[in-house]
Amino acid sequence: MMVHALAGKNLVITGAGTGIGAAVARLAVEAGAHAVLVGRRADALRSCVEQVDRAHRANLVVCPADIGDEDSTAELVDTALAELGHVDGLVNNAGIARFASLENADLADLALMFRVHVSGPAQLIRGLLPSLRQQRGSVVNVTSVGGSLATPNRSFYGATKAAINHLTRSLAIELAPEVRVNAILPGPVDTPIYDDLGMDQAGTDALRNQLISATPLGRFGTPDEVAAWVCQLLSPAGAWITGTLLPIDGGRCA
Ligand SMILES: NC(=O)c1ccc[n+]([C@@H]2O[C@H](COP(=O)([O-])OP(=O)(O)OC[C@H]3O[C@@H](n4cnc5c(N)ncnc54)[C@H](OP(=O)(O)O)[C@@H]3O)[C@@H](O)[C@H]2O)c1
Repeated sequence: MMVHALAGKNLVITGAGTGIGAAVARLAVEAGAHAVLVGRRADALRSCVEQVDRAHRANLVVCPADIGDEDSTAELVDTALAELGHVDGLVNNAGIARFASLENADLADLALMFRVHVSGPAQLIRGLLPSLRQQRGSVVNVTSVGGSLATPNRSFYGATKAAINHLTRSLAIELAPEVRVNAILPGPVDTPIYDDLGMDQAGTDALRNQLISATPLGRFGTPDEVAAWVCQLLSPAGAWITGTLLPIDGGRCA
């Protein structure tokens, strides 16, 4: 990473309390960014701030909000603009995973994942668009390889990630040249998302083993290994990249 590549950039990062989002927040702020950190749990966001070195903590603002709720997301847009003045980058990373076969899945989970992975991010992009346009900003959507691979027993999750991948490519054209829109497609990454998949522990353990077997590099990735590429797309190094769906997945192909 170029250490000063994000100096002076103002970012909004969702799902910033844990996992990939927290790693993006740490890396970005240490590369010179100011950021509004978003998630439902204020305590998780505060603990992300505490993991950043003291010199940079004042550059992070904790903004609890529910991206799956339209009113909460509208309020977040106003708060983020009030806190930052303008926005150069948006990282739509908040996510949840509810994995089940079609017969066992709850349709309410499909609606929930659609709100968090698609509607909320679209609302955020639209709300921040005047500022993003003015700043010639960058949007990075953290989606999933599950949005392009066929994933039996995880079809609802994959369908919502396919939808945000599509939104990424379409908006990249619609919003060019002022705003760049890209997606990072992680493969399996070791984060707290695996603590709450709506499956029992045996099912979760079996899935983790299956994901490792399907990953040529033979292991889960780390949040930092994904965050570096998110920051790269936010930085001037990504200035000629838009509409890209970039897999960061250990070579996962099935
Ligand atoms: N880990 C993987 O293997 C993997 C693979 C492919 C893609 N991804 C994607 O990567 C992204 C980050 O996930 P992660 O693996 O880092 O998991 P994680 O640690 O569970 O992070 C997800 C974050 O999203 C926040 N969130 C969930 N629902 C929200 C809502 N309605 N409003 C606001 N924030 C919300 C959570 O915080 P609160 O609970 O406090 O709201 C949490 O901090 C997700 O979009 C996920 O689908 C992960």
